[in-house]
Amino acid sequence: MKVIETLAQAGDERARMEGSVGFVPTMGYLHEGHLSLVRRARTESDHVVVSIFVNPIQFGPGEDYDRYPREPERDLRLLEAEHVDVIFAPTVEEMYPPGFDDWVEVHGPLVSRIEGAARPGHFRGVTTVVARLFRIIRPHHAYFGQKDAQQLRVIRQMVRDRALPVEIVPLPTIRDMDGLALSSRNVYLSPKEREAALVLPRALALAQEMFQEQGVWDADLVRSSLEQYIRRVPGVNLEYVSIADEETLEELDAIDRPALVLLAARVGFTRLIDNTLLVPQGVEVPARLRQIKEELKAALGKHDG
Ligand code: PAJ
Repeated sequence: MKVIETLAQAGDERARMEGSVGFVPTMGYLHEGHLSLVRRARTESDHVVVSIFVNPIQFGPGEDYDRYPREPERDLRLLEAEHVDVIFAPTVEEMYPPGFDDWVEVHGPLVSRIEGAARPGHFRGVTTVVARLFRIIRPHHAYFGQKDAQQLRVIRQMVRDRALPVEIVPLPTIRDMDGLALSSRNVYLSPKEREAALVLPRALALAQEMFQEQGVWDADLVRSSLEQYIRRVPGVNLEYVSIADEETLEELDAIDRPALVLLAARVGFTRLIDNTLLVPQGVEVPARLRQIKEELKAALGKHDG
């Protein structure tokens, strides 16, 4: 496994690679969610490249850039065990040299709503860094988690807009035993906060139950039930409940097509997001969702249609 820091080294390494290249961009402090992407890349590609870079331009003022958890040595050990070929861990100066002005942006409701509204400029920072990493690594496949559902769709849009020669592979959310979606930020939670945070996956299960078992198709009713359910938990500050078209992320009145339930809440200092997919019975699951839908089936057992 090679660990490289500069664009020049990355170019040299890439030039030596023959066959397919799978790429997993991360901000480090790795967990099983990240590793599930790495494992998939390993099964599908001749070479696996993982980037570790806490990207300052996707953090807003007052967000947690400075205190974002970093533990590079542990990350390297975990990636070595997954037989990763190259780790690209550039410095901020290497990624953004003085005078840097090569912003990559996606426009429209997909970026301006939900997380885009809560974190202005966030997706601009994400698309700029991911486009830059794609240009450096030139992967055939790049792997992203459904955990960050809107990010995944924004990146897909960027790839379409710019006709980038990379296939985006979406993979399901990995959760802890208690249901909490794995996130590097979970380390911020005190035991009490972590218990309170479980209201998020529970609220998503409630949405599944209302939709699949009680046949509730009225998005407003599901939205308001989830809001009530989450707001009754002390210490949890709900930011939004969105029930949106799975592809465009436009808010729905009726859940009559594949839909995402997206949640964001603050638990103490920590901001958490989570989501689940609702697919009406009898609606054919689009190919791009099959992987995610399978996960859902496993999680819900008999409940899922
Ligand atoms: P980071 O939060 O480190 O996440 C890296 C990748 O891991 C993303 O594709 C994310 O969706 C995925 N991931 C995180 N938690 C997951 C979970 N519980 N299950 C499955 N996948 C999970 O997302 C970023 O970094 C950055 O925005 C980045 C894309 C690297 C650009 O800076």
